[in-house]
Amino acid sequence: MSRGSHPARIGILGGGQLGRMIALAAIPMGHRCTVLDPAEAPPTAAVARHLRAPYDDEAALRNLAAASDVVTWEFENVSATPLARLAEAGVPVLPGPRSLEHKVDRLDEKLFFRGLGIPTAEFAPATTRAEFDAALAQVGLPVVVKTRRYGYDGKGQAHIEIAADIDDAWARVGGAPLIVEKKIPFDRELSILGVRSADGDVRFWPLVENVHRGGILRRSTAPMERDSPELEALADDFIRRLLEATDHVGVLALELFQVGGALLANEMAPRVHNSGHWTIEGAVTSQFENHVRAITGAPLGDTAARGPCVLINLIGTLPDRAAVLAIPGAHWHDYGKSASPGRKLGHVTILAESREELAERVGRVEELVTPSIPEGVD
Ligand SMILES: Nc1ncnc2c1ncn2[C@@H]1O[C@H](COP(=O)(O)OP(=O)(O)OP(=O)(O)O)[C@@H](O)[C@H]1O
Ligand SMILES: [Mg+2]
Repeated sequence: MSRGSHPARIGILGGGQLGRMIALAAIPMGHRCTVLDPAEAPPTAAVARHLRAPYDDEAALRNLAAASDVVTWEFENVSATPLARLAEAGVPVLPGPRSLEHKVDRLDEKLFFRGLGIPTAEFAPATTRAEFDAALAQVGLPVVVKTRRYGYDGKGQAHIEIAADIDDAWARVGGAPLIVEKKIPFDRELSILGVRSADGDVRFWPLVENVHRGGILRRSTAPMERDSPELEALADDFIRRLLEATDHVGVLALELFQVGGALLANEMAPRVHNSGHWTIEGAVTSQFENHVRAITGAPLGDTAARGPCVLINLIGTLPDRAAVLAIPGAHWHDYGKSASPGRKLGHVTILAESREELAERVGRVEELVTPSIPEGVD
């Protein structure tokens, strides 16, 4: 029997909603999960055994290793200590360290894309004010300035449209190592999710269209509207290169800007991704199930969409559960987190038979969700 024939003990670094949905996919397949997270009651603790300790706690890492046949992670800033301790204990960590290598630093990530022939927006690094001014001159306004490390949900970013915004942006993010990127006047934001098994089988879900507000993902439409075989082929090729270059095992996401017939890579997430949450109800095999299949050595499942669907993130506050569930095709996901502004608390997935029916149902959900997405507002 192969490794994928047995139930596995899965360790998860990080107990947020991604870890929770990984565990929720693992349970029906007979696997058991243990999560390491320093928080008192992280979302994953509802569905997995919880080791409460810092990620570099030696005793907790020994316990995690003893409780796991394989360890995966739900966030990219995994430090060297857990990776080293788990390797010493002989427990495989999947995806492996090579998948994390180029995610630490946005400059390195962009250079990695370029090295693989994946186009990006023009960019220049800067740490001092003089370098910042030189980078602005090189790239040309408008730009998006990002801290090279630790950004998420648009944090550590400043948009500069006109010269008068420059000092403000520097006051906000200056001082840390930065990357200055050309601001892309994209037609649409898209993402592609792929999964690779340990023996190199690669599958892709259909391209998804994403809407962000204030740097946070609000809505994903899957498959994207006006789907295009040319764009699918381009995106599949990009993500295949990334999966193979890092010898990745598990799910990997790539965020893209569409400009006409071209795609530019924004950033990758070498893990399950928010823009793939629709796959739980909307695809034959969800990103979480295929991630679990990949890391446990099982064959991958079909990634086709079952029909058109939309994912709406619930940010800051939750709408009325019963009112959402009264809408046909709507599925409610509550991560069990305490409410705070800008925090992802859950999502709703809406399925329908046709795009028209979907638009009508999405409209009804949007009326219940605060903040709704005001059209044309960033
Ligand atoms: N070069 C750019 N041109 C135009 N828009 C951009 C650019 N870079 C970022 N944005 C906008 O800001 C959003 C967030 O940027 P990015 O994905 O780099 O940040 P993040 O903080 O890592 O977000 P997350 O981790 O939540 O995806 C993008 O999805 C896009 O809407
Ligand atoms: Mg992003």
